[in-house]
Amino acid sequence: MTTHQPGLEQSAVDGLLQTVSQYLGHDVAPEWRGAAEAAPRHRFLPDRVWLSGDDEVLAACDRECEPERWFAAAYSDVPVVTQVNDGQEPADLSEALPSSSASVPSIVFRMLELLDLAPGMRVLEIGAGTGYNAALLSHRLGDVNVTTIEIDPAVAELARDALKATGYSPTVVCGDGALGWGAQAPYDRVVATCAVRRVPYAWVEQSRPGGVILTPWCDDWTHCGLLRLTVNDDGTATGRYSADSAFMLMRTQRLGLRLFRDVVMDDHVPAESTTALDPWTVADSPIETQFALGHRLGDLWYAWDHDPGVEGVDTRLWVATADGGSWAAVDWDGNDSADHYTVWQHGPRRLWAEVEAAHRWWLDNGRPGPDRLGLTVTPEGQWAWLDDPSNSWSSG
Ligand SMILES: C[S@@+](CC[C@H](N)C(=O)[O-])C[C@H]1O[C@@H](n2cnc3c(N)ncnc32)[C@H](O)[C@@H]1O
Repeated sequence: MTTHQPGLEQSAVDGLLQTVSQYLGHDVAPEWRGAAEAAPRHRFLPDRVWLSGDDEVLAACDRECEPERWFAAAYSDVPVVTQVNDGQEPADLSEALPSSSASVPSIVFRMLELLDLAPGMRVLEIGAGTGYNAALLSHRLGDVNVTTIEIDPAVAELARDALKATGYSPTVVCGDGALGWGAQAPYDRVVATCAVRRVPYAWVEQSRPGGVILTPWCDDWTHCGLLRLTVNDDGTATGRYSADSAFMLMRTQRLGLRLFRDVVMDDHVPAESTTALDPWTVADSPIETQFALGHRLGDLWYAWDHDPGVEGVDTRLWVATADGGSWAAVDWDGNDSADHYTVWQHGPRRLWAEVEAAHRWWLDNGRPGPDRLGLTVTPEGQWAWLDDPSNSWSSG
């Protein structure tokens, strides 16, 4: 099989659009169908990609060795990883972490819909990656109206080449997307394709009043979500979430903490107490619940240890702050009907008390899901809220 037969390409694009339509619950709009046909996804993939097997471990797939598998991946509704470990591929692929990819097509088209674009609008994309999304935007809006920023020079170069080869020439900038790109501002839309923990204020500053900022969200607790903000006349931006997609974190906002290297030290002497709050309730509940808890908890993250090597402890939940300065651990002894659990806490903040308070807040407020939660971005910082921006608290 060759991957250059026009009939094959066409039927692969048709098949992908059918899958995307099923996900969206309606046909892909004609303008986006036209864009997808003009910019076949496989033309944006490098010859070497990494695909997840059943075990979720990434494995390299080379076009030359496995052309059919490579081509099938391009037209499947999956992310195709195009770079690992910032370009330093490890010898042991179990240590490979995606650092650039062609995003899941159904999410790409959903985000394009959420942007609610009209002819003549100017768009700034953060995270050019393969250039595929920039090509779709350029097809719809014209090259002059699209700017895309990519932090990785090698990735930016590949995006430029792929765009040129498919007939598009939006502005491709190599730099930190957190700074935006003032030269082409103001924008009607800013769309990020990497996730943020804090919305860079430059995106608000460089948008027109009434403009939209759409970004994957990554709170430290759940690592997922999509945030759509509208830019207000007073230089703030306000909007709401949905909880359904996960993107790689913006490079300049990575936490990079390891529990036993950076947070929990041998000389720590934690305070011991007990709790009636089952750790599984807060860190193994439906994503909607965890999303609300993460929204309230701000800078807390967690990790499970399923083999703590401590007698009588089946599983231990670790909770820590994003600066690594405080931590808590809660022990579960394997007994489903236990009514209390041992808690260990270290550092200036009592993190399990914060988790208990967030859980109480969630219950007292009628168990809110992501649709009741929002964020306001101001020059001074960002504010999380429940139901209405006036009911807010600082979120960093
Ligand atoms: C999921 S990929 C983007 C997918 C892309 N839009 C496409 O159509 O293929 C995320 C990209 O964001 C880039 N990125 C991460 N942090 C960034 C930053 N601070 N500024 C600009 N790009 C960044 C990554 O290098 C990666 O290429």
